[in-house]
Amino acid sequence: MKSFSALLSFTAVLLALSGVEGHQPIKASGKVASTWWASWHASDFPASKLSWSKYNRVVYSFAETTPDVNKLDLGDSGDQLLKGLVSAAHQHNVQAAVAIGGWTGSRFFSSAVATPANRTAFTKTILTLAQTYQLDGIDFDWESPVNQGIGCNLVSPHDTANFLALLRELRAHPLGRALTITAATGINPFAGPDGDPLTDVRAFTDVLDYIEVMNYDIWGSWSDTVGPNAPLNDTCAPPADQQGSAVSALRAWSTAGMPAHQIVLGVAAYGHSFRVAKKDAIVNGSMVAYPPFNASAQPAGDKWDDPAGIDECGNDEAVGGLFDFWGLIQAGFLTSEGNRAPGIIFRYDDCTKTPYVYDATSEIMIAFDNAPSFREKGTFIRSAGLRGFSMWEAGGDSNDILLDAIQSESRF
Ligand SMILES: *[C@@H]1O[C@H](CO)[C@@H](O)[C@H](O)[C@H]1NC(C)=O
Ligand SMILES: *[C@@H]1O[C@H](CO)[C@@H](O)[C@H](O)[C@H]1NC(C)=O
Ligand SMILES: *[C@@H]1O[C@H](CO)[C@@H](O)[C@H](O)[C@H]1NC(C)=O
Ligand SMILES: *[C@@H]1O[C@H](CO)[C@@H](O)[C@H](O)[C@H]1NC(C)=O
Repeated sequence: MKSFSALLSFTAVLLALSGVEGHQPIKASGKVASTWWASWHASDFPASKLSWSKYNRVVYSFAETTPDVNKLDLGDSGDQLLKGLVSAAHQHNVQAAVAIGGWTGSRFFSSAVATPANRTAFTKTILTLAQTYQLDGIDFDWESPVNQGIGCNLVSPHDTANFLALLRELRAHPLGRALTITAATGINPFAGPDGDPLTDVRAFTDVLDYIEVMNYDIWGSWSDTVGPNAPLNDTCAPPADQQGSAVSALRAWSTAGMPAHQIVLGVAAYGHSFRVAKKDAIVNGSMVAYPPFNASAQPAGDKWDDPAGIDECGNDEAVGGLFDFWGLIQAGFLTSEGNRAPGIIFRYDDCTKTPYVYDATSEIMIAFDNAPSFREKGTFIRSAGLRGFSMWEAGGDSNDILLDAIQSESRF
């Protein structure tokens, strides 16, 4: 944060003196094989561990918005980590982007785009970031315009319109035109002033290269029952269990005017855990779909999971309960090949194409994605003509079991 802010004013001078010469951004065409790299996991999963040959874009996460429109916060050691990531990416001819926002980092988006003066300042902040770190792309991860996210985001009914105005201003600049500009979105189109999804998002197709639909966290600890983290399909599920999926997200976005080739499917290398009593989990010898769970006994996830504590808004937050794919293996739910471990009860849901594991001793059930789920998603990307995939997060996989599965079917 500090070093970036210091660099900022220095670079602003350079920009003014020299225009925007220097690094020519690598431009994206064709299919997208992308992943988000979480900077706070860099000590366990440094840039050197990325399977560079299997991606054509990597996204540093996150540059958080701050109360000052002239500043973005790259996180602890962000300056050094981002330089390292970009340099490794460029050695492998992979695009390097930065995601602005994230769940905790979207608090000040609304004010940063609220007025023409702030949009001009924010545009300059973003272009300076891109110039300073030789970025090829900017990924807007605003969670979420118009509607509240973490609980203390600034929010305005004009957020989506102001976001569009910012994107237009960014594109009016030569460097902004050269960058690959994307947005990580929910499964429904951007919200209009009333908080409901817009029915027409065509204006965004001119200013965004593509969107990444975050088709995960569809069910979790906040839900009424256990359900899939990242359903491929839900139109085949009982009506009460149709909470969204890749299939319904594609329908919603394309009906609003976002063409399939501008939609990248966000995929999850992690799952959500639930505490499910044995009598609810197993009936007549089979694992039940959508069983009730005990929210007061949320299991902890793996070592990357967020412990219980106070969140950025000052509110109490329960333990997250997330298991990365490697965490499922480490905790003994799966073998090192990613299959059901001995003693674990397993169910693969044929509608959502996602598996569940259950340990009857600890009464922990986990809904996640395995290699067959990723293969199905790869097939869907290819057959529906989507632009590609982006995985949260780079370090969540184990031995590329998931990455290889989606690559094998989406054919990049
Ligand atoms: C413009 O940005 C500044 C922070 O740099 C903020 O204090 C101000 O409230 C913003 N304006 C609006 C209307 O949100
Ligand atoms: C989703 O489910 C519907 C209804 O069962 C089915 O017609 C459709 O083929 C499924 N789509 C995919 C991609 O599985
Ligand atoms: C379990 O088996 C009993 C007896 O065959 C049957 O009446 C009941 O409907 C079954 N329950 C479920 C959830 O399948
Ligand atoms: C749910 O978990 C809490 C905390 O462990 C426990 O006190 C409670 O009895 C559980 N409820 C049920 C219905 O099992």
